[in-house]
Amino acid sequence: MENQSKKTVFSGVQPSGNLTIGNYLGAIKNWKQFEDDYNSLYCVVDLHAITVRQEPAELRRRTLETLAVFMACGMDVSKNTLFVQSHVSAHAELAWVLNCYSMFGELSRMTQFKDKSQKHANNINAGLFTYPVLMAADILLYQTDIVPVGVDQKQHVELARDIAQRFNQTYSDTFIVPEPYIASSGTKIMSLADPTKKMSKSDENANATVRILDSKDDIIRKFKRAVTDSGSEVRFSEDKPGICNLMTIYSCFSGKSFEDIEKEFEGRGYGDFKLAVGEMCADSLSPIRDEFAHLLSDKAYLENVAKEGAQKASYLAQKTLSKVYRKVGFLAK
Ligand code: TRP
Repeated sequence: MENQSKKTVFSGVQPSGNLTIGNYLGAIKNWKQFEDDYNSLYCVVDLHAITVRQEPAELRRRTLETLAVFMACGMDVSKNTLFVQSHVSAHAELAWVLNCYSMFGELSRMTQFKDKSQKHANNINAGLFTYPVLMAADILLYQTDIVPVGVDQKQHVELARDIAQRFNQTYSDTFIVPEPYIASSGTKIMSLADPTKKMSKSDENANATVRILDSKDDIIRKFKRAVTDSGSEVRFSEDKPGICNLMTIYSCFSGKSFEDIEKEFEGRGYGDFKLAVGEMCADSLSPIRDEFAHLLSDKAYLENVAKEGAQKASYLAQKTLSKVYRKVGFLAK
């Protein structure tokens, strides 16, 4: 199970039924590279999800579906610990302790908190405010070395580092101080409707995002409608954000370099290219879609994966939590 000589990688994903090709190409697909050389843990963060209102049945369904998406994307359950946050009570327990080592001022400066309190102005609850502390607990519980995240979560990982260092200085070395691992800019996928904006699973414009589980017809339709730039040449250049985005997507799925793509589409217009990207994307995702459907047809198996993942995670988490409880002065049980 746990290999002491290996480093640990940890990341969390919100339970959402709408994971996009941005989540896939920029995150999940790249996590496979860690599975042989790291202790790898990935968590569906349902505790974080309730900082905004959720429909209970929907949350339950999406939690299991997110786990199925991980697996359908090729994450091997014998090499990665996949689990659900609320199944490992140490997350909430460590979060409470870390709350007492996190400052009101630093939490007030978190940009995601500021954004979300604007968006959910009628529900600025304390959980939304301490969201990054729970995230720090997620990370620090597993003595994590690296945290693959999107650039929007970098500030939260930096806060986790600050909290870890503060705790280590107050007591003695307790936590590994984690490093964020930001995927290279080449894998940042932009909206199809506005290529200057990141592709987001919550975009209101359905044509802006391609979901991992979209049907082939939908995918091709969305790429046909993708906003492109003036001109007609398929060329990677800064003044062509739309074409650059499509080339990035095509390159990620096909493994071809930008140069090869330029050659392949020389003398052919945008229309041809968009269709080719759509087909490449739909065909690459089709085995994932099939595997997802297959996995969901056996809920008992999925639940068992979650159960085994939680057992492994709990074992590791408990070691850190006990250490923390001892250091802060809680009486032993
Ligand atoms: N906040 C992250 C997001 O919205 C999800 C998350 C929760 C996470 N806990 C984490 C990511 C720990 C990395 C590590 O994307």
